[in-house]
Amino acid sequence: MDDRALDDVHVFPADLERRPDPYPWLAELRAAGPVQRVRLRGGTDAWMVTRHRDVLAAAGDPRLSSDPRRVAPGTRMLGTPTMPSMLTIDPPDHTRLRRLVSRAFTARRVEGLRPRVRELAEELIDPIAPRGHADLVADFAFPLPVAVICELLGVPFADRAFFSRQSAEMLRPPVDAQSAALADAARQRLRDYLAGLVRSKRTDRTDDMLGDLVTVGEEQRLTDEELISMAVLLLVAGHETTVNLIGTGMLLLLQRPYEMAALRADPALLPPAVEEFLRYDGPVMTGVVRYTTEEVEIGGRTIPPGEVVLLSTGAANRDPERFDRPDEVVLDREDNPHVAFGHGLHFCLGAALARMEAVEGIGVLLRRLPRLTAAVPAEQLRWRPSLLRGLQALPVTFDPVAR
Ligand code: HEM
Repeated sequence: MDDRALDDVHVFPADLERRPDPYPWLAELRAAGPVQRVRLRGGTDAWMVTRHRDVLAAAGDPRLSSDPRRVAPGTRMLGTPTMPSMLTIDPPDHTRLRRLVSRAFTARRVEGLRPRVRELAEELIDPIAPRGHADLVADFAFPLPVAVICELLGVPFADRAFFSRQSAEMLRPPVDAQSAALADAARQRLRDYLAGLVRSKRTDRTDDMLGDLVTVGEEQRLTDEELISMAVLLLVAGHETTVNLIGTGMLLLLQRPYEMAALRADPALLPPAVEEFLRYDGPVMTGVVRYTTEEVEIGGRTIPPGEVVLLSTGAANRDPERFDRPDEVVLDREDNPHVAFGHGLHFCLGAALARMEAVEGIGVLLRRLPRLTAAVPAEQLRWRPSLLRGLQALPVTFDPVAR
């Protein structure tokens, strides 16, 4: 980034994801122009892309790399670079790594998991239903995707307190060298834990995704580093995102009792409603990161090579040029090409799984808990101190149902 005065640089608010409503800030940026210079927490300078059409074009543009090693030397970046995973590399390595696991996430395979997800959701509700009150995040939205990803990967659910803590620590927004070091240390602890698990699966093969990866890895010369990075990525992605989708979705419904009743009466309305939750307030709100490998023009601005570019999915999903009534929740929205799962080669591998978990999870909640009502006013709700957007807790009351 050039050395112009800071007055045309927007300083990224340290608390953006924790705000009850972060969207006015994103709207201000979009209104200021399609590509804005921002100074991120921790001082990294970046270009933020805010329009839907530019986010789509940039996410599909091979001149924008996913590999942070492409930044210009001397660029201020916090923390030590992560071991490359499919999320942070480009083809051909990206293609090779993604291919190893993509079969497990196809729509057909995910459909096969639906009955088990519903069963897990029912099991979580059993102890809650007679109580008449719950925290929908801790009691439901969190354990559901964690249980699913644990079963899928073959990670012991009993260890969830440990790895959930590391995962939350890794995603705390780094503001200085000290907080970046804490996130790095948490990542290392998670890597060590998963390395131990992979070692045990080498001697004692299991019928799960990590077990398969150990076998496939030997045939296809997957390095241990690659295997462990893959496991970290899937474990973290598998339980830091869907929890937020279910939590935020339920909050939006609690604030709209009429719509909640309509969904309860007709569960076929749930899939488009989940798409609207993803668009209106998705878990990856601040965006997807890319690095320019050469000079690139986006939205009329020329970005030099080696720069950090933030594709703001949150801003793009409320772009008035693309969405009718962008700041309203329209649960049966028909034209909804949101970018909450990204776009292009790195399009979310877990999208079908996340959608299915949200539809099943919210469906079971609505069916089993009558007269669901928020237990505290929305202003008292806390949002997580995380790079992802999601509620810390969602206390509710409902009519107790005997088992
Ligand atoms: C509501 C839930 C979710 C949201 C909003 C979400 C969002 C995203 C986004 C925006 C990307 C693109 C990142 C980029 O282009 O740099 C992505 C990639 C990815 N997601 Fe998700 N995700 C969710 C759930 C999941 C789940 C449940 C899993 C798997 C267990 C998962 C696994 C992945 C993986 C492996 C990638 C990297 C794909 C690649 O680089 O080719 N995600 N996700």
